[in-house]
Order: sequence, then structure tokens, then C-alpha cells
Amino acid sequence: MTGFPEFIYRNDELFVESVTLKQIAEEVGTPCYVYSRNALTRAYQEFDSAFSDRDHLICYAVKANSNIAILNLLARLGCGFDIVSGGELQRVIKAGGDPLKTVFSGVGKTLEEMRMALDAGILCFNVESEAELVALNQLAHSMGKIAPVSLRVNPDVDAKTHPYISTGLKENKFGIPSDQAMKIYQSAHAYPHIRFSGLDCHIGSQLTELTPFMQASNKLLDLLQTVQSQGVAITHLDLGGGLGIRYRNESPPSIKDYVSALCTCTQAVSQKILIEPGRSLIGNAGILLTRVEYLKHTPARNFAIVDAAMNDLMRPALYDAYHEIMPVLRSAQPTSSYQIVGPVCETGDFLGHDRSLHLAQGDLLAVMSAGAYGMSMSSNYNTRPRAAEVMIDATTIHLIRERETLAHLMDSECLLP
Ligand code: LLP
Repeated sequence: MTGFPEFIYRNDELFVESVTLKQIAEEVGTPCYVYSRNALTRAYQEFDSAFSDRDHLICYAVKANSNIAILNLLARLGCGFDIVSGGELQRVIKAGGDPLKTVFSGVGKTLEEMRMALDAGILCFNVESEAELVALNQLAHSMGKIAPVSLRVNPDVDAKTHPYISTGLKENKFGIPSDQAMKIYQSAHAYPHIRFSGLDCHIGSQLTELTPFMQASNKLLDLLQTVQSQGVAITHLDLGGGLGIRYRNESPPSIKDYVSALCTCTQAVSQKILIEPGRSLIGNAGILLTRVEYLKHTPARNFAIVDAAMNDLMRPALYDAYHEIMPVLRSAQPTSSYQIVGPVCETGDFLGHDRSLHLAQGDLLAVMSAGAYGMSMSSNYNTRPRAAEVMIDATTIHLIRERETLAHLMDSECLLP
């Protein structure tokens, strides 16, 4: 048992669905991101069926993993999207996603990005400041359009997560304080090219308790009442993303319990419910496959130097995040404690500390729970080409992103004359 249903040992060899990770390494090389189609589909269906009869739209947070094959699979399941840039909008469109099921979040949308989104006809702009609203109103006017808007409210709720990914406290840069949001809705007539259609919040990521979600939803409901009493027709409530996953020993609420809690909390109102999950859809559907290059034993520590690094998976270096690391071939031999590190020239370049493993040069390792914020946050630091990505569908390996080449990396650079 690995704790991840699509990643299982058979005769001590790690499989994803019906394919061995060893075969993937042989065919595609390492480092390589490996996703399970079944795991992704199952997570989406869990969200969707938990809403049962409630009018809802699941808007996948594209930033978690923006590969167009993943967006396309979700679009085919009926999923909508939460984007934060013009680039993500282009990906959604290229993947066959529906702009009318797309919401646009983010504190710094440029005029160009807003223009693209108005042209595409998205469902809603989640507006994060009065200045942004003024700019959008002017732009919509110049384009002869009406922009659908939901104000992102900052509910001042503690999400109890890593400070870098907590977004709903009043000192965070995100959202508009409730009283200011109220004033904006009251002066809706001052924005003739805006249609106020929703209310939105998002308080953070990797939340492992339901209480902060409930607190934020209740604040949104209070505001909804006041806004409606002013005669503004709100048709949807966007409750954001943020549901956590199990990386190690966390016990986040299940998708079903999370959605049920949201539905219960909002049962007195008839608005359509939107949510923006990222990590909980794709996080545990993906791993990073890497190979041990060298073992190095010093009096202080044992190092396993692997071919994946902080440029491929930044989460350990950036948040001190824990990812389970599993051997692709399990052995009964005695283990040693290893520092699993990459080749990048920084002490912060590690994937895991003090892992008990039996290792030899050339062994393959699976860094688990790497489907979300892995590839999408990767970089070319140390002029390292980005990893390949594959999607496994039962017995088939689909290459969904080729490994970058060194030529790709230097193509857009040039020498001085
Ligand atoms: N909606 C908005 C407006 C967001 O900012 C985010 C994530 C989401 C939805 C999706 O949240 P999720 O369901 O994935 O928790 N790089 C960090 C996570 C950053 C999350 C940023 N915003 C990490 O690796 O943990």
C-alpha cells in the first residue's frame, strides 16, 4: 500500500495504473512527471457528484497544473476554469475549455489580459481592487461591452496554513475588505459597463480543516444579504479553492465532506455555487519520477544525488514542504537515512531530508503528491531543461509534454552586435 490508489506496488514494483514506473523511465527518461488519468477523473467526479442537485460549477485552478492535456481532460468532464493570466486563458481555449465557464482571478490583471478575456467572453472577472474595477469599466466601455464582475472579498479569516499560501487575512494583498466591497456594490450605477453578478472569496491553499471555509462562507453570506437588499442581482457565489491533500500525515476533510459542508452552509440561498479547486484535483494524481545519479557518504550524512532538482519541484525549497519519496523497486535490505538532493548549486536544493531507504546508484524514486504546483512552478535554473510529462491511461503511456531541449532554452536569446 502506498496510500495513493492509482500508485501501487505489485510484487514490490511500483505501478501507476497498469504501467510500471520503470517502463516509463526507460521510454521517456528522467526526471519525468507522471499523472494518472483515472486519479484525476475520480477526483473531479467526487466533487461533481457531491454537489448532487445543487446548481454548481467547478472551476479548476489552472495554476496548479496547466498542461493542456490535463485542461482538456477536465473540460471533457464538464469542468470550468479559474485563470490568473492571459496565458492561462490561451491555454484553456487551446485545450477546448469553455470561456463561459471561466473566471479570471488575480490582483494585477493587465489591460491586455482583460481585453483578451472580454473578447473571449468569460463568465466573470473576480475583481480585487477598486482601481482594477475602474480600469475594467473604462476598457469595457471602449470595447462596447459589459464586463461581468464578482468582487473578491477579503473575509479576514485565518486559513491556518503556510503563511506564503494564506490569502484571506486583512494584511494579505488579496481581495477587498467587506465594508469597501459593500460601498462598491452600493455605487454600482457608477460603473455602467460592469454587471455585478457574483461574490467571491479565496482564503488560502492546503487547508486541512473545514472551519475557516465555513467562517469565510458565512461572511460572504452576510454580505450577500446586504448587497441584495440594495437591489444588486447576485447570481453566483464563488467560494474559492484551497482544500488540502494528504502529503504525509495530514487528514484533510474528504472532497465529499468539504462540498457537503459548503452546500449546508449556503442552503438558505439559491445562487449557483462556484468553487476553484486546484491541488485537490491534481495533487495526488501525479508524481515526479527521478533516478539516483550518485550516492555520497560523508561522516555527517548520506546523500542521494538524484536527477530532479529544485527547478523541477520547488515546493520543498520554497515552503519546506514534505513529499513522500518511494522506491520504484522495493527491497527488504537494510535501509540508511538519506538526504535526497538535486544537482543544483544551492543547499536549499533538496527533495527530502532523512529518508530511510535502501539505495544504489541508478535506482528510480517516485516523489509523491507532485501533481499540483510541481511542473507549473518549475524553472530553468542552472540551465536545466524542464522535465517531460506523461499521462497514464490504464496500460497506455501518453507523452503530454516533451522534455525541453537545450536549444529551446537558448532560442530566444541573442549576442550583442
Ligand atoms: N483560487 C485562487 C484565487 C487561488 O489563488 C488559488 C491558489 C486557488 C483557487 C487554488 O487553490 P488550491 O485548491 O490549489 O489550494 N504554490 C503553492 C500553492 C499556491 C496557491 C495559490 N493560489 C504550493 O505549492 O503549495
